[in-house]
Amino acid sequence: MSITSNDQKYIWHPYTHQKNMVSPIPIVRGKGAFLVDESGNKYIDAISSWWVTVHGHAHPYIAKKIYQQAKTLEQVIFAGFTHKPATELAARLIPLLPGEFSKIFYSDNGSTSTEVALKMALQYWVNKGDINRNKIIAFKNSYHGDTFGAMSASSRSIFTKAFNEKLFDVIFIDTPTVENLNVIKTQLEENKDGIACFIYEPLLQGAGGMKMYDPKLLDTLLKYVKQQKIICIADEVLTGFYRTGKMFAGDYMNEKADIICLSKGLTGGTMALGVTACTQNIYTAFLSDDKLKTFYHGHSFTANPLACSAALSSLDLFEKKKCINDIKRIIESNAKFMDILSLNNFKRRIKNIRQLGTIIAFEVETEQEDAYLNNVSEVFTKFSLEKGVYLRSLGNTIYIMPPYCITGKQLKKVYTVLRKFLNHE
Ligand SMILES: Cc1ncc(COP(=O)(O)O)c(C=O)c1O
Repeated sequence: MSITSNDQKYIWHPYTHQKNMVSPIPIVRGKGAFLVDESGNKYIDAISSWWVTVHGHAHPYIAKKIYQQAKTLEQVIFAGFTHKPATELAARLIPLLPGEFSKIFYSDNGSTSTEVALKMALQYWVNKGDINRNKIIAFKNSYHGDTFGAMSASSRSIFTKAFNEKLFDVIFIDTPTVENLNVIKTQLEENKDGIACFIYEPLLQGAGGMKMYDPKLLDTLLKYVKQQKIICIADEVLTGFYRTGKMFAGDYMNEKADIICLSKGLTGGTMALGVTACTQNIYTAFLSDDKLKTFYHGHSFTANPLACSAALSSLDLFEKKKCINDIKRIIESNAKFMDILSLNNFKRRIKNIRQLGTIIAFEVETEQEDAYLNNVSEVFTKFSLEKGVYLRSLGNTIYIMPPYCITGKQLKKVYTVLRKFLNHE
């Protein structure tokens, strides 16, 4: 049976309208920024395969390290046992994180990392005996994952519509602007003694449409939130590992989070791993003779040694000058392309042209503004794939988020395809 016939017979794809689904492209290998299909067609992966791939596909160094680890220890229960890849990774990560973090809790992916963070923050107050501090604050338009807790803390949208009644209550606030800061403060003031935590995607709301907002304003908001002793949870699942130009988005702010969530680029985008790091203050609330104060949470693959080795080898690559230079090169190149986009002299009108680090985004003006229900995405993905570039828009929000190994020539090709699309009727 071919990949396609097995796929059609047995597979249910994520985020995919199954009826009349366009047959997925069978990918047989990847190399650097390229994905290669079974007919030998090559596609530049300009969105890093759902924002995960940072050093490129099938990176030989990461592959070697995973292989070596697979021959040594592939998996072990992480309660009552520990191992070098997990301990070494924690020891190397903690000094790199933006804040005073002291403990790392492992899980499997981005959703579990935020789920863990929310549970930690809620139980922190229970353990402290302050049970009325049980409300969660999140931004409107946020996305923290697809499991129930993560979904509850995410903005209500067409993704959550079928489950809205089952989701727990969250107070949604606007992302900060000069005009609305005081309104947000009043909103927080009204609830202040009951708020357990504030979860936010720093500087970039990815799934919400690559919306970018100002670090200074976030800093001001965080300062205020921290004065209320509200636990700040930075969801850096997407923004971590140089996507925004700095190693973490939190590096742009003076005010630091109490809990940080990582995944995606953590393993170089090669294996599923989640990290939730917390400060000593949070951890101390769980240190007790009372067993009920234990954090009863874990997953079968918590701290999987292969995933931890992949993360360690990814950190090795980030220590190389080449990687940092590549990131700078992409940022500069994108900035030049921004100038071209800003001319806005294409057949299709575009708006809100923006850049944050290695990411560029803008909206194509459409008659149906409801981003996920218009057809820009289908038309755009098909158009770009035919030209050898893989781009997937979020409704009418088009963005580029390439792996850092993308060459100047490949990046130029991505820009060319974008321009062709914008000039195409
Ligand atoms: C900011 C943010 N948090 C959490 C998640 C969920 O991560 P995962 O898809 O690995 O569950 C995502 C995924 O896109 C994300 O962008």
